[in-house]
Amino acid sequence: MKTIIEPFKIKMVEPIRLTTPDEREAILRRAHFNPFLIPADDVLIDLLTDSGTSAMSSEQWAGMLRGDESYAGARSWFHFERVLRDLTGMPHILPTHQGRASERILFELVGGAGKVVPANSHFDTTRANVEHSGARAVDLVIREAYEPRNRHPFKGNLDTPRLEALIAEVAAKRIPLCLITVTNNSGGGQPVSLENIRAVRAVCDRHHIPLFLDACRFAENAYLIKQREPGQQNRPVRDIAREMFDLADGATISAKKDGLVNIGGVLLMRDDALAARANNLLILTEGFVTYGGLAGRDLEAMAQGFQEVLDEDYLHYRLRSVAYLGEHLLAAGIPIIEPPGGHAIYVDAGAVCPHLPPEQFPGQALLCTMYRHAGIRAVEIGSVMFGGTDPDTGETIRPPLELVRLAIPRRVYTQSHIDYVIEALGEIYAKRRSIRGLRIVEAPPVLRHFSAKFEEVE
Ligand code: F0G
Repeated sequence: MKTIIEPFKIKMVEPIRLTTPDEREAILRRAHFNPFLIPADDVLIDLLTDSGTSAMSSEQWAGMLRGDESYAGARSWFHFERVLRDLTGMPHILPTHQGRASERILFELVGGAGKVVPANSHFDTTRANVEHSGARAVDLVIREAYEPRNRHPFKGNLDTPRLEALIAEVAAKRIPLCLITVTNNSGGGQPVSLENIRAVRAVCDRHHIPLFLDACRFAENAYLIKQREPGQQNRPVRDIAREMFDLADGATISAKKDGLVNIGGVLLMRDDALAARANNLLILTEGFVTYGGLAGRDLEAMAQGFQEVLDEDYLHYRLRSVAYLGEHLLAAGIPIIEPPGGHAIYVDAGAVCPHLPPEQFPGQALLCTMYRHAGIRAVEIGSVMFGGTDPDTGETIRPPLELVRLAIPRRVYTQSHIDYVIEALGEIYAKRRSIRGLRIVEAPPVLRHFSAKFEEVE
């Protein structure tokens, strides 16, 4: 059979609301042209994020009822720890409330003024946590990542010659760790190959630099390795994922992605002394080491989710449905980052709106048009998220691409929802010259995309 069906049936439904164009116009203006400020009830198809938006399975809900809410040493903690140890082999497993809590603990311990943290690409919260510690975050993804139409199978790879050059420039002792984000969210949801993780590991070993993964989407990355990397086709995805973790000294994970839960995170590490310090910080700000800011029921849902996500029928459907969206947008002539990656399709808004310069935020302008036209919400990854003014030089920061990310929540939308998105984007593309630019009227100094207010440029 050529049709790839959703490998689940639906037991509970949640209505979504159709709004009129006039209602949407008023809602968009009330939200100051920032989709983060639109109430979710006013959104028809919500592609803002794949984070924390998964539908849980009946087994996960059953786990929620079994959750042991003891303060210390809860049964649910031991279940969670066993699953994560099996999956990753890491000796130290710290539960946190979400990915950025893991990042904050890690970079508070290893970051600081004068330090430099290289990665393929830092996600926005990762970069913000590195910089908050006083350290500098440096992105070293391969140059193919910046060429939207280049169909390199592993555009998330870290450029090892550039890593060597950075080490030579700043000295290894100033680099507390090197990070690989799998899949590379800021760079198009593109996977990193095993070969590349091994190569980065070898460079790190030569200079005694620990290697950490930002492993939010480890299962999707492992499945793309199975599909795309020579020699990996016959391996269980679980083994590939394990090899990824085996190559690392630690990992931060937001369980809101491949953990298939609505809240939760993990911090993993091998180093005993670092783990002892991390546990102290965990207790200080998250909670005791056997619950880390979560309820016992959340730990149960995560334990189940981290197993379900490695089901290869699920992963096949998941990656296929993201590719389906990408292929249909391409067929309609809409430029996207190719090839389709793990959790999202990234529309090249700079190419859709060549009439809008970066200072008029073509990505944000396209987002607003999608909401107006069809009630679809997505997120900008471009000059709003990563632009601004360099605090040291005063120069305007220009990200290499102006993108709109259509992130697909896990197990939430069916093929007809996706067909609706394809049709809506096709109609918008046909009238793309009428998309109007925006200017910022108010913005906070960090992570401005969450709350910035805009107005349309005349
Ligand atoms: N790292 C990556 C690669 C991420 O994509 C995210 C979150 C985080 C870390 C932080 O995790 O949200 O649990 O604190 N990404 C979400 C997104 C928000 O929409 O891509 P968190």
